[in-house]
Amino acid sequence: MAVRLRAWTLADAPVLAELINNKKVQDNLRDGIPFPYGEEDAKVFLSEMLASDPDQNIAFAIEADGKLIGSISAVRCGNIHFRTAELGYYLGEPYWGKGFATEAVRQICEYVFQKTDIIRIFAEPFAYNAASCRVLEKAGFQLEGVLRSNAVKNGRVQDMNMYARIRKE
Ligand SMILES: CC(C)(COP(=O)(O)OP(=O)(O)OC[C@H]1O[C@@H](n2cnc3c(N)ncnc32)[C@H](O)[C@@H]1OP(=O)(O)O)[C@@H](O)C(=O)NCCC(=O)NCCS
Repeated sequence: MAVRLRAWTLADAPVLAELINNKKVQDNLRDGIPFPYGEEDAKVFLSEMLASDPDQNIAFAIEADGKLIGSISAVRCGNIHFRTAELGYYLGEPYWGKGFATEAVRQICEYVFQKTDIIRIFAEPFAYNAASCRVLEKAGFQLEGVLRSNAVKNGRVQDMNMYARIRKE
């Protein structure tokens, strides 16, 4: 199936809400996302994102064969890190294990390195998130180190892995 990144629209709200209204998805993300997650939450998120500066927040819907399956973004950092971006992504559970996330990560990296001046894209999956670590490795990211006891998720202290891909690597 063909994976494609495209711009978000407000009409994505119902499907987006279905994808992220899932504890198994949210257990691998940062806190602050409503749960349960409804269409109104998706509309708020989409409105904020559509109003944001596209040079700061490079955000795409992930499609496979014309169907919305997930979300991916590269967010530019501030201060001396202004040429660094943090990558974040998720797919709805029915779409896991088919190579879609790896393809989406490859595509956003190509876009970011071609269309912006960003030189470093990094991601910080929880160390236990083997699927996400593998996605990053397959997409050309290097493990730079383990950020020990770097987060508390669901009441547990967690290590996170620092992965990065540098322009021209
Ligand atoms: C992580 C996530 C994006 C992966 O998406 P995906 O489309 O299933 O990933 P891919 O199919 O491209 O690749 C997954 C790889 O991980 C491997 N994998 C999956 N589960 C694994 C596990 N428990 N242990 C080891 N490897 C695992 C797969 O075998 C595959 O590697 P392979 O191609 O070498 O066989 C998806 O599971 C997801 O959205 N999870 C919830 C949100 C999340 O974790 N986001 C990332 C936050 S950093």
